[in-house]
Amino acid sequence: MNADTQTPSLHLGDIAPDFVADTTEGKFDFHEWLGNSWCVFFSHPKDFTPVCTTELGMAARLKTEFDKRNAKLIALSVESVSSHKEWIKDINEIQRTNLNFPIIGDENSYIAHLYGMIHPRANDTFTVRTVFIIDPNKKIRMMMTYPAATGRNFDEILRVLDAIQLTDQYSVATPANWNQGQDCVILPSITDAATLTKLFPKGYREVKPYLRFTPQPGSNPSK
Ligand code: BEZ
Repeated sequence: MNADTQTPSLHLGDIAPDFVADTTEGKFDFHEWLGNSWCVFFSHPKDFTPVCTTELGMAARLKTEFDKRNAKLIALSVESVSSHKEWIKDINEIQRTNLNFPIIGDENSYIAHLYGMIHPRANDTFTVRTVFIIDPNKKIRMMMTYPAATGRNFDEILRVLDAIQLTDQYSVATPANWNQGQDCVILPSITDAATLTKLFPKGYREVKPYLRFTPQPGSNPSK
C-alpha cells in the first residue's frame, strides 16, 4: 500500500484495476469497455486549463493513429462529466478537432486514487499527468508521470505503443531514441543460429555478442 493515499501502488505487469466510470460517453465498466483493445488511459489536472486543453486536443487529433494500433483512448480528471462536456466545446473550437473518446468524471477521486494519479506532495487534490498503456489482457505495460505544468508528447506515447507491440510480435527490443522504420535489437536470449535465421530473415549485424541490430520486422502501422 502507498502510505500517503492508502491505495495500492501499481506496477508494470499488474492487471489494471477495474471500475465503473461515469464518462462523457455514458456510464460503463472499464474492463468491459476495453474489450480486446489496447488502451491509453491518462489523467490531467484540471478542465479549462491551458496545457490540458492542448493535450486533449492533440490526443483527439491523433486518435486515428491510436485506432490503427487497436488502442482506445480514455482521459480522467477529478471533475464532473458536465464540466468535461462544456470544456470539450472549447477544445474542439481551439484545437480544430472533434474530441471523440471518453473523459471520466471522477469528482470523488475514487479512480484517481485507485490508479495512484494523485501525488499528494505535488498537489493533494488534483491528478498529475499520468499515462498507462494497458494491453488486451488488461495488463499494465507502461506507466509515465509528468508534472502539471509539462505537457506530454503524444507522439512519444504512440512510439512506446509501437515498441511494445513490436516486442510482443517479433523477438526484438528497441534501442535508444528508436522510431518507426529504424533498426531494432535482437533479444539477447536468442542465440541459436537456426532460430536467428528463421526469426530475422532480413539478417542482422553483430556489434557485440549481446548487441545485434536487425531491420525492423513486419509492416509499419503508421502507414
Ligand atoms: C494546465 O493545464 O495548463 C495546468 C494545469 C495545472 C497546473 C499547471 C498548468
